[in-house]
Amino acid sequence: MSMYRNAIWFLNGIHQYTRKGYEAASKDFEHQDLNVSVVGRSFMVTGANSGIGRATAMAIAKKGGTVHMVCRNRDKAEEARTDIVNESGNTEIYIHIVDMSQIRKVWEFAESFRKQYPSLNVLINNAGCMVHKRELTAEGLEKNFATNTMGVYVLTQTLIPLLQKSRDPRVITVSSGGMLVQKLQVNDLQSEKGHFDGVMIYAQNKRQQVVLTQQWAKANPVIHFSVMHPGWVDTPAVRSSMPQFHHMMGDRLRSVDQGADTVVWLALSRVASRTCSGQFFQDRKRVPVHLPLAWTHSSAEEIQISGVLSSQMCRRYFARLRLLKR
Ligand SMILES: NC(=O)c1ccc[n+]([C@@H]2O[C@H](COP(=O)([O-])OP(=O)(O)OC[C@H]3O[C@@H](n4cnc5c(N)ncnc54)[C@H](OP(=O)(O)O)[C@@H]3O)[C@@H](O)[C@H]2O)c1
Repeated sequence: MSMYRNAIWFLNGIHQYTRKGYEAASKDFEHQDLNVSVVGRSFMVTGANSGIGRATAMAIAKKGGTVHMVCRNRDKAEEARTDIVNESGNTEIYIHIVDMSQIRKVWEFAESFRKQYPSLNVLINNAGCMVHKRELTAEGLEKNFATNTMGVYVLTQTLIPLLQKSRDPRVITVSSGGMLVQKLQVNDLQSEKGHFDGVMIYAQNKRQQVVLTQQWAKANPVIHFSVMHPGWVDTPAVRSSMPQFHHMMGDRLRSVDQGADTVVWLALSRVASRTCSGQFFQDRKRVPVHLPLAWTHSSAEEIQISGVLSSQMCRRYFARLRLLKR
């Protein structure tokens, strides 16, 4: 079944996720959707110094928005900020240094941000990684899971009260079409069992982001949640984490602006906020979260367990760090 699933996924990808796929899909785009000014609105973008995150931050800055760049490396962040300010003429661009895999730091950052700033209109969970060897963070979490799932969970969950106070609040999470080959798994979140396959663990984390988005949407009706696939994009992450794929795809990969297009559309356009909350997007369209006959569906019970599990896990984890009053 997984061979069938992977083959269908790859064929789909060649057709849709490439530069040509974007060019075909963009014929249906309404260009006035992005004819907006977002002066006075604030946007937080994680991983904003590179690739899709940087292109997203640039596009928002050009529309006048205030951008909070959340990056782990100060030099790279400063360099990206300088480019964004020079090209957009917008100086409302702020840097926050946070490693998204260090959960206590993520929590401390989000807590201090919500005390310091009166509002946050849009959170864009973009930072992500694909690590091929099982590595643990200093806090004892598997690195892919810490960055792609736990960090996203803690940042979003902690900022929800601030988003709720803000006008037209949105949360966009940059997942991946790779999640389509994975069924949600909740019994080995730290990848302790069996063979460690970084590509599949990344895909599993990206499935977890889709499920978390659906759960957040149900629990927080005031906020518009969405999750998306950018397509196959030529970025440093693809170059370094999937060198063979990068070489094989060559100039069939999308540009970073093409990859960022749907993130920007979800963050800025009025029409995006009128779509149902909690959905998965590709090229400005809602798309299914399962391939046909792929056996990746989870029962309501499994989804519920995963929700309970992830929140319990976070609570237990916080308690261990003495961050939550019991
Ligand atoms: N490119 C694709 O084809 C593709 C396809 C599907 C999904 N995506 C998703 O798109 C998102 C953006 O990736 P990209 O392709 O644009 O790659 P990229 O250019 O390498 O950008 C990844 C960004 O995430 C940051 N990051 C990684 N780990 C971090 C951590 N622990 N703390 C803080 N920041 C961290 C990186 O910071 P540094 O610069 O310091 O490393 C960088 O800014 C990711 O979530 C990725 O999974 C990409």
